Amino acid sequence: MIVLDGEKRRVRIQEVDRQEFVDSRWVYKPGQHVTIVGPTDWGKTTLAYQLMEKVATPNFPAVSLVMKPEDDTVQLWLPGMGHRIVQSWPPNPAKEMVQAKPPGYGLWPPHTFDAKIDDPRLYWEFRRAIIGMYGKRIGQRKIKGGILFSDEVAGLARLYNLARQLDNVWERGRSQNVGLWGASQRPYNVPQNAYGMAAHLFLGNDPDKRSRQRYGEIGGVDPKLVENATMLLQDHSWLYLRRKPRALCIVSA
Ligand SMILES: Nc1ncnc2c1ncn2[C@@H]1O[C@H](COP(=O)(O)OP(=O)(O)OP(=O)(O)O)[C@@H](O)[C@H]1O
Ligand SMILES: [Mg+2]
Repeated sequence: MIVLDGEKRRVRIQEVDRQEFVDSRWVYKPGQHVTIVGPTDWGKTTLAYQLMEKVATPNFPAVSLVMKPEDDTVQLWLPGMGHRIVQSWPPNPAKEMVQAKPPGYGLWPPHTFDAKIDDPRLYWEFRRAIIGMYGKRIGQRKIKGGILFSDEVAGLARLYNLARQLDNVWERGRSQNVGLWGASQRPYNVPQNAYGMAAHLFLGNDPDKRSRQRYGEIGGVDPKLVENATMLLQDHSWLYLRRKPRALCIVSA
């Protein structure tokens, strides 16, 4: 429980155990967008996969766009959830025919560490996956909807120039039953839609005051409350904001 003392009132924010949150408080409707913002190592990827594991199925698959050349958390979770790691999009159709449909895919293109080669490659791979998911297709296979997860949504939008494609999913994905889940280390540089369109927001404790003030502007609730609550968060815990129906709680580490 976090208790905030304002001038005139006390606000108590309930803390919910992580397992209980994931098992019984986490209610996700297809097409809803999720935004997770927290400093490096706060546990964004871990949280996203914990939430995703409850939601993704072979008929409602998740596609994770992995930008980093290496990531221990991704390496641990994707195989653990039975998600198929592919280097290129769409997945090989011949293999797809004979293998059981997984509850998700991790698109993880290899890196040569030469930006001149890697940048265009990653751009085209991620672009094909975003457009495919927006059109509810895994290659030739039609799906009813699913999740598109970008671990570094600010980088995807700016570095790889995919803001336009991401905006399509944020603005029209809901009617397609395609939810865009985006994580970011910093609350600025993130496309506005990451906040405006998200049904579920998770905010970590950012040591930078400017970041916390930015949090205050995006929550859609009392800015001071959001700023102060995130400042008091323990390591790896989150301030959770749900837009409809309105809910606010702390998710423990
Ligand atoms: N709830 C938790 N309790 C304890 N440790 C955690 C928790 N969540 C994540 N961790 C640990 O913190 C480390 C970072 O987790 P994770 O990779 O999910 O963070 P991240 O925010 O995605 O980091 P990055 O910004 O580098 O992508 C990992 O070692 C992970 O096991
Ligand atoms: Mg991460």
